[in-house]
Amino acid sequence: MARLNLTSLRKMKAEHNKIAVLTAYDASFSHALEQAGVDVILVGDSLGMVIQGQESTLPVTIDDMVYHTQNVVRGSEKVFVIADMPFMSYANAEQAIQNAACLMAEGGAQMVKLEGGAVVADTVKQLTERGIPVCAHLGLLPQSVHRLGGYRVQGRDAEDAEQLIRDAQTLQDVGADMLVLECVPADLAARITAIVDIPVIGIGAGKDCDGQVLVLYDMLGLTPGKRPRFSHDFLADTGAIPAAISKYVQDVKSGQFPQAEQQY
Ligand code: KIV
Repeated sequence: MARLNLTSLRKMKAEHNKIAVLTAYDASFSHALEQAGVDVILVGDSLGMVIQGQESTLPVTIDDMVYHTQNVVRGSEKVFVIADMPFMSYANAEQAIQNAACLMAEGGAQMVKLEGGAVVADTVKQLTERGIPVCAHLGLLPQSVHRLGGYRVQGRDAEDAEQLIRDAQTLQDVGADMLVLECVPADLAARITAIVDIPVIGIGAGKDCDGQVLVLYDMLGLTPGKRPRFSHDFLADTGAIPAAISKYVQDVKSGQFPQAEQQY
């Protein structure tokens, strides 16, 4: 069975059909997500925190990402699979090409995701020119947590907001085929989603993005500590994992998620 592809995802944007994305890191959840109608699985470097128990995503290695991507790919047939490029695995274009090739050729990913604005534009250009699809990631960049001084909403003042808009356009111009926007005000995310042609997937970025993504263990209420404001415990609503995932998909597709209290 053929997997969903970028053409279908672009068509979903054009036709205003919301894209349901969740993270997964293993074959069993990959299968469950596919059964529930999730369109895209992100093998996020959030696995550093939710699988490995690390304090941040920084210790995750390219070998970790290849291993978990392989497992997710084995567990599914139809979903589109994106793999995160871990911290410093794309510090220069040459290194990025080598590591992205591992995620695609060994891991089986259909796209790689990397964090950053104009500073990664040349790397994105080099990857996409070589046929490697790239999902850009703007707003809160977890790999820069120490520089940002914590996990905070980004783009609140006018200057930062304009910079984010410019970065989104630049990344599209150099070939990015998708964009994740994390923790930005909903009105800014709506502007960016309207300006770019590529699908924009929000996490804490309001209801007007083309799709939504959450960390799987957050939306199942399993992550210890305080749940981020933008997440919601779908397992508490439904009482069973398959039903929780199906409800997330339905709520994203119908525009019920996120609600005002889950956005900035
Ligand atoms: O690593 C991850 O799970 C992510 C999402 C938070 C978008 O990048």
